[in-house]
Amino acid sequence: MIVVQTPAGQVAVQVSGTGEPLLLIPGFPLDHRMWNSQLRSLSQSFQVIAPDLRGFGASSKLGGSVSLRDYADDLIAIMEQLAPGRAFTVCGLSMGGYIAWQLVRNWPERVARLILCHTRAAADSPETARGRRIAIEAIRQSGPNAFLQAMLERVLGATTRQQQPELVARVQGWMAAAPAESLIQTLEALATRPDATPWLKAINCPTLVIAGTEDPITPAAEMRELAGQIAGSQFVLLEQVGHLSPCESPEHFDAVLQQFLRI
Ligand code: MLT
Repeated sequence: MIVVQTPAGQVAVQVSGTGEPLLLIPGFPLDHRMWNSQLRSLSQSFQVIAPDLRGFGASSKLGGSVSLRDYADDLIAIMEQLAPGRAFTVCGLSMGGYIAWQLVRNWPERVARLILCHTRAAADSPETARGRRIAIEAIRQSGPNAFLQAMLERVLGATTRQQQPELVARVQGWMAAAPAESLIQTLEALATRPDATPWLKAINCPTLVIAGTEDPITPAAEMRELAGQIAGSQFVLLEQVGHLSPCESPEHFDAVLQQFLRI
């Protein structure tokens, strides 16, 4: 991995391949390892750039509160160093998608294509935000284990949990690596993020929206509706995957990306 200095701290980035830049933004509370398959398969044709967001993986710790805009600022600083002035494809999963909205809203000229996996544009409902604050309190009082166990059961589809015990253990290990303070600060950032729905009509780059049939966090019907709000976007529903299709079914996920990217 390389380490990129941004105005806010150090961000560790896995870079693989050469060519048109492709930025992969992880979901919460994961790091670049969730893109291991894509770092291999897409690096034949792209400069694949997979950062650990600040507070996660090998990046520097969060000094205090953080917002999704802060994460987007970090990513632009990285791209300025790795692909100066160039437009790039952005692929974000869930929270990575929330950060992608920030990129396409604030730097539309830099976003050549958008790939939105298992994400939503709407802000948290009051009930969801309340649930995150309850989780923050629980992590403060008893540590993150119970929160992470509940999250693990929701991010992986039923088929994956039954058929891929090694992947379940791997994802559990990735989640366990997240520091409690990062979980707390990022949960607060998620609870206070803006509603990106009004931004959707301005998106005019080729856009792909990917959902999974077994994803309870960002259900397929909601994602289909999201795709309907982005002019000219493509919607793909992957079978037998939950919220983490790049890990749960990398062959299908990568094939969909390759078709969209015309590799
Ligand atoms: C994620 O996978 O990034 C999270 O599920 C996002 C969220 O909780 O809204």
